[in-house]
Amino acid sequence: MKKDFYKSLSKKYHTDHIKPLTDDEIEAYLIARMPATFAATTVVLREVCQRISCPITQFLDLGAGLGTGYAAAKEIFPTIEKATLIEQNPKMISKGRQFVDAEWVEGDISKIDLPKADLVLLSYSFGELAQAIQIEVLERAWESASVLVVVEPGTPRGFSHILKVRNHLIEKGGHMIAPCPYKGPCPMAQKGDWCHFSVRLERSREHRHLKEAELGWEDEKFSYIAMGKDPARPAKERILRHPQKRSGHVILELCPDGKRTISRKQKELYKWARKAKWGDESH
Ligand SMILES: C[S@@+](CC[C@H](N)C(=O)[O-])C[C@H]1O[C@@H](n2cnc3c(N)ncnc32)[C@H](O)[C@@H]1O
Repeated sequence: MKKDFYKSLSKKYHTDHIKPLTDDEIEAYLIARMPATFAATTVVLREVCQRISCPITQFLDLGAGLGTGYAAAKEIFPTIEKATLIEQNPKMISKGRQFVDAEWVEGDISKIDLPKADLVLLSYSFGELAQAIQIEVLERAWESASVLVVVEPGTPRGFSHILKVRNHLIEKGGHMIAPCPYKGPCPMAQKGDWCHFSVRLERSREHRHLKEAELGWEDEKFSYIAMGKDPARPAKERILRHPQKRSGHVILELCPDGKRTISRKQKELYKWARKAKWGDESH
């Protein structure tokens, strides 16, 4: 696999309106992006699973790519009986069929009828939509969903999409599932920061070759929002950065209340804080 294909893939992802990927770019996506989107989506769906009560039997993936979202979802929700994966690029579908057995539908998610589903996912696809149709697609996805999950790259741009989804679904009366502890104004957005999380994944030899990377691992940064039609159990507080573990105390950056220092004197809490990770719920 030539590095050039990864370069042209990467270039496409740095433009605003992304043209369909070619066969070679799909191969590069498979090697160098799919492991990361799979890892991020898995973290998100695991968090969602802990916070909802409704059983997930029908799954709908919008902008399914190679089926990564379903690959992650079926591990977390083995109760899924029906999975519909909608993707506009037929080349993606024929490659994806090799990995994921589901009902694949070729079509444009802004136009075709969407079936109802307990869980609807837009992973790394919302930001690919032209701005003019984002809200329309969101409305359609929300209409179909009991639980709607949107995952985006953990960049300021990716987060701006998540914020747009969050604000819109709050207006629609959606219930917060994760990551936010509440439906109030986002404190990160208010201070011009962006809420994102991180997952570490291994790089294969080919993956390293395509990216001309030396390290055997990478950290995928992602932003996400999960909201539902029924009340869920959102986190009381969420850890927003790597905890700073100093001698005798740990400093946590929390949503919604900002920094908190936990000292050795707070025995049980301190024991927990030493092991706490970015993205965890706080005690
Ligand atoms: C970055 S890929 C993400 C794929 C997969 N969800 C993942 O997490 O790896 C975005 C996918 O959304 C698809 N897509 C973008 N706009 C779409 C639309 N309007 N209708 C259907 N699929 C769309 C693209 O063809 C692409 O396969």
